Amino acid sequence: MTTSTHARDKVALVTGGASGIGRATAEAFAARGIAVAVADLDVAGGEETVALVHKLGGRGIFIRTDVSSSVSVHTMVERTIAEYGRLDIAFNNAGIEGESGSVLDCSEANWDRVLTVNLKSVWLCMKHEIPHMLHAGGAIVNCASIAGLVGFRNLPAYVASKHGIIGLTRAASLELARSNIRVNAVCPGVIQTPMIDRATHGDPAQRAGYAAAEPVGRLGGAFEVADAVVWLCSPNASFVTGIALPVDGGWVAQ
Ligand SMILES: NC(=O)c1ccc[n+]([C@@H]2O[C@H](COP(=O)([O-])OP(=O)(O)OC[C@H]3O[C@@H](n4cnc5c(N)ncnc54)[C@H](O)[C@@H]3O)[C@@H](O)[C@H]2O)c1
Repeated sequence: MTTSTHARDKVALVTGGASGIGRATAEAFAARGIAVAVADLDVAGGEETVALVHKLGGRGIFIRTDVSSSVSVHTMVERTIAEYGRLDIAFNNAGIEGESGSVLDCSEANWDRVLTVNLKSVWLCMKHEIPHMLHAGGAIVNCASIAGLVGFRNLPAYVASKHGIIGLTRAASLELARSNIRVNAVCPGVIQTPMIDRATHGDPAQRAGYAAAEPVGRLGGAFEVADAVVWLCSPNASFVTGIALPVDGGWVAQ
């Protein structure tokens, strides 16, 4: 991102901003002078992110949001507009891993929850964000995963939701290509965040197994995904739309 005075007028919305990749991205936007609306279910974590944004000298507000609720997403966008008067960038990032288990073991409740929180939410967010970008243009990044590009055993709902995000991103990018709104997806590999702590049950041996499975031999940092999101949202990526960018230490090259 070029740190021009232009960037200083911009406003970004980050869902799932209370933790992990979302928090790192909120900080990365703030460090470039972009005002941030941090949306999350987690009030304490969201307020902590805003405090980090302020520490960087940035502008930030927290909006308690459930991205699976249409009413809540509508309120999230309206509050952002009420506070800053515009919306230039959206990182639709909130997500959950759900329960692990085979296609046979996956419960209907788990399927519905993961598909709603991970995939329906991205559609709801874009539906409410896009109208505010039609006038001045914008950039949207949806958080998919390497699980949106290749299969993984025992996470059928998660894998389906992330493949769906990439399809939805491509569809939206085509609809908006002539409206100066770029829509891309980012596909993180295994990134050191609370989600991975949960997936490995805090077991160092399991985490080491994930690191060894990464071609680069280590887990990614949340800031490494944040840097890719910032680039996708910047004028430096002005001819980039409809892509699903792996930030994965080489995982999908295998
Ligand atoms: N960590 C990884 O290895 C990895 C890999 C690929 C993709 N991802 C994706 O990156 C995104 C961020 O994950 P993370 O690793 O930072 O995990 P995380 O658990 O640290 O952060 C996820 C955030 O989303 C919020 N959230 C969950 N449900 C929500 C809801 N209904 N409404 C609003 N907020 C909600 C949580 O409160 C949390 O703050 C997710 O979409 C995840 O699927 C993560």
